[in-house]
Amino acid sequence: MLMNFKGKLAVVTGATRGIGYAIAVEFQKMGAEVIVTGTDPSNLSFKNFRYYSVDFLCDESTQRMVDFLSQQQPDILINNAGINATGAFQEITLENFTQIQRVNVIAPFRLCQAVIPAMRENSWGRIVNISSVFGQISKSERAPYSSSKFAIDGMTAALAAEVASYGILANCVAPGFIATDLTKKILGDTGITEIVKQIPIKRLGQPEEIAKFVVWLASPENTYISGQNIAIDGGFTRV
Ligand code: NAI
Repeated sequence: MLMNFKGKLAVVTGATRGIGYAIAVEFQKMGAEVIVTGTDPSNLSFKNFRYYSVDFLCDESTQRMVDFLSQQQPDILINNAGINATGAFQEITLENFTQIQRVNVIAPFRLCQAVIPAMRENSWGRIVNISSVFGQISKSERAPYSSSKFAIDGMTAALAAEVASYGILANCVAPGFIATDLTKKILGDTGITEIVKQIPIKRLGQPEEIAKFVVWLASPENTYISGQNIAIDGGFTRV
């Protein structure tokens, strides 16, 4: 069934590549108008999107995007942009820890604040925050990233409870190991081979497998799922 996004404006952050790009393509296929954000548009191969440049490590840049969203009044916000860095707990610098929180939690918090007034006014809105399986479980050397992804889950649960009565549904989606630049950077080829052995489906996920569900969750077809953190991980967190 074709989801009806006619007249709906969706904003997808961090959508120049990877999971965000796949989400933006899927929204457009389904008829939504899409604004994508990124730090570098040069590898944005699909040109039919409106592009907005923002760096969530820069407060002024984030504030400009908050103002932009207040004007644009999107119906759908997908907070997808995220960064990761691994390292032994004792070696993590305050700067590194803080940077990850700024991109992965503080920017989504600010963007949610920017879009909610218009969603309330329209009595309809959908927010999907991209978390991670490391926002449900964790492992060594993941402290800054896991902190940020557990935090966005908590923030989303509280937000969902507050806005449900205005027709706004907010959820997290928690990808497992997905074939993107981020995964290649963090795990490398050997790490990927090792992790695939631990995934019941025995392969990495593809960005499109996340995108299809995110777009459904953000559609008018979703009328009763809110406040959840749903893993799409080939069974990884259930064994
Ligand atoms: P990616 O590294 O391929 O793409 C990240 C996007 O975020 C890019 O468009 C980039 O421009 C944007 N971005 C990075 N730093 C930024 C900054 N300072 N300001 C604004 N935008 C910035 O990442 P990928 O793999 O597509 O991940 C997307 C989301 O999914 C992230 O939130 C990530 O934590 C999450 N995720 C990814 C998994 C994976 O296996 N790839 C697994 C679990 C969660």
